[in-house]
This record gives sequence, structure tokens and C-alpha cells, in this order.
Amino acid sequence: MTQRIAVIPGDGIGTEVMPEGLRVLEAAATRFGLDLDFESFDWGCGHYLREGRMMPADWKERIGGHDAILFGAVGAPDRVPDHIAIWDSIITIRREFDQYVNLRPARLMPGVPSPLANRRPGDIDFLVVRENTEGEYSSLGGRMFPGTEREFVIQESVFTRTGVDRVLRFAFELAARRPGRHLTAATKSNGISITMPYWDERLQAIAGEYPEVAWDKFHIDILCAHLVQHPDRFDVIVASNLFGDILSDLDPACTGTIGIAPSANLNPERRYPSLFEPVHGSAPDIAGRGIANPVGQIWSAALMLQHLGRDVSVWQDAADAVLRAIEAVLAEGPRTPDMGGTARTADMGRAIASHVAQA
Ligand code: NAI
Ligand code: MG
Repeated sequence: MTQRIAVIPGDGIGTEVMPEGLRVLEAAATRFGLDLDFESFDWGCGHYLREGRMMPADWKERIGGHDAILFGAVGAPDRVPDHIAIWDSIITIRREFDQYVNLRPARLMPGVPSPLANRRPGDIDFLVVRENTEGEYSSLGGRMFPGTEREFVIQESVFTRTGVDRVLRFAFELAARRPGRHLTAATKSNGISITMPYWDERLQAIAGEYPEVAWDKFHIDILCAHLVQHPDRFDVIVASNLFGDILSDLDPACTGTIGIAPSANLNPERRYPSLFEPVHGSAPDIAGRGIANPVGQIWSAALMLQHLGRDVSVWQDAADAVLRAIEAVLAEGPRTPDMGGTARTADMGRAIASHVAQA
């Protein structure tokens, strides 16, 4: 089966790490006999400056028929306001393609110094499941009497039964398939007195469908503290859009560098393509120097192989081979400067690709 991949490198280091993601995917395709067909789209801030929009008007038709989207990063904060760069690209794609799960694995990898003392590879291995289409990130609201003393601003949160239940179910299903069989939910029902008690109520109801999964819940503030102090206690964490956003930047901080963190934006029913991207942004401070860590992009490509292959073993073997190659190179080098090394982006990408080729 040919899998058609829409490739959107974006801006800044997005254009530097993407070639390494593709290099490793090509090595995996050759080694495991996978049929991947890539089509590249030059959407992002350059497109905005030329055409007045981040993506063409018919973007949905152009990539809606692909099997997956591999995304780099967007953002050119000195030339394009960030809320335009992000909302008119990645957030629009997530919403229009109903990618309601944002999945972010956090794992302490060999060779990556953890800021937390005495933690070794294997100690930290959890997944954050973030609701990705509703919750606190809604466009309902407005500003009245701007610039006057009476100025007031409102932004509503939206929690639908469908939206809450489906992300909770996804998280419980995931937990049920992992050896730990444990789920933690983030809440804040002591302070946010309408939506969060509703979230807790649905959690209780959906938990009843999964008696094999042990679960607990914490208010988001103390959950952040626990995550820093005891990241080894967590298995699957499920959270609303805002809380999941906060947790998913905290977890790469617990596991070393943001440069290696991957993510998947999933439409689990596969009515639309899912999107795979590193957690980091376009990193204008190091862009153009060829020193960005490509592992976040390459690991995201491995998540894409897992998703595309469903349960077909050769695709899972290919995804595993990419992960083992990442682990090997993180442990032995070459390493980019964010990990204390002197290697360039392409050195690390080539080393990972050659491990995959020998797998
Ligand atoms: P950022 O993730 O781009 O950079 C944060 C820090 O981490 C910087 O010091 C950067 O050099 C470093 N860093 C990030 N990725 C790295 C890598 N692969 N290797 C080595 N070091 C790395 O976040 P920041 O600075 O807040 O945002 C920069 C731009 O990216 C903004 O325009 C922002 O809106 C955008 N952004 C886009 C995202 C996306 O496309 N999904 C996600 C996050 C930010
Ligand atoms: Mg974030």
C-alpha cells in the first residue's frame, strides 16, 4: 500500500530538521520495503509574506487526501505576528481535520542529561494525551469598550460531551494497552467550578468502562509539582487543551531537551489525515546555522510510521528500528550543541539513518 505523505517543513529550523526526518524515513522505507510517496508544500511565514496567508485558500483539498502530514515548525516572530503564524496554520489544520488527540511521549533517553538528579533511562516513560480541538482554546468571546475604563474582555471555554468523552476514551484505551495500565487525569475542579466538575464527572463515567485501568486525578498545579518531583510515577496522563499544553512543555523539560520531543495530532477514526510534528518551534535564535537537533522531527516520523502501519508488523518494525537508531545515536553521538556536542543537524540525521539501514 502506497502511503502519501504531505510534507510541510515551515520556517526556521523546521526547514533544517525536515530533510533529516525524510532521510531517516527513506532509509526505513528501503530497509523494510515500505512504499512512501512524499509531496512537499512551502507553506508558512514566507508564504504569508508573499501571499498574505500562511496556506493557500484550497489547502484542505490539497492535503485532505493524503494519508498523513509531516510538519516541521512555523513562526517568524520578527516579521509575522505569532498568533497569525500559529492559528492560520497548525491550529487550523488540527481543528479542520478533527485531530482531537495531541499525543506527546516523554521518555528519558540514554545520553540525554536529565535535569532531575539520579534518573536513568527507563525511569521516565509516560505519555501526555491532550485534548486538541476545544476546551479553553475557543474563539468564543470578545472585547468591549476598547481603550476605555469600561473595557472588558471575555473568552469562553467549551466542553462538549462528545469532545470530552472521546479524548478520555482514547486515553483509557491507550493505558489499557500499556504494561502500567494506569491513567492520571488533570483537573482544576476546586477553582474552575463549572467545566472542570463536568470533566471529572465524565472521567468517572468513562473510567467505569475500563475496570482494568487504575486511575487517579490531580489538580493541575500539584500535578505539575508531582511531575517534576516524581516523573517516574506516571504512565498515561490525560488533560484538557490548556492543561495538556502546559504539561507537554513540562515533560521535555523533565527529560532533557526540547529538541528531541515528538508529537502526534491524531484523528483516530482516520476520516482525516493525522499530523506529526516536533514539539519545538522554529527557533529563530539558532535558525540558519545547521545546528538544530533533528531528533524531535525524526521521532515524530517514527510515530507517523506507527500510525500509518496500524497493526501491520513490518510498519511497526520500521518504527521500532527508527526508535532504536535514535537511542543508539543519543547514547554514542554524534550530538548537536543542545546536547553538549559539536555535531551538525545533518551529522546526527545521517548517523540515525545509517543505524536504520543496518537494523
Ligand atoms: P522554540 O521551540 O522555537 O525555541 C525555544 C528554545 O529551544 C530556543 O532557545 C531554541 O533554540 C531551542 N530549541 C528548540 N528546538 C530546538 C532544536 N531542535 N535543537 C536545539 N535547540 C532547540 O520556541 P520559541 O522560541 O518560543 O518560539 C519560536 C517560534 O516558533 C515562535 O514564532 C513560536 O510561535 C513558534 N512555535 C511554533 C510551534 C509549531 O510550529 N508547532 C511550536 C512552538 C513555537
Ligand atoms: Mg506549547
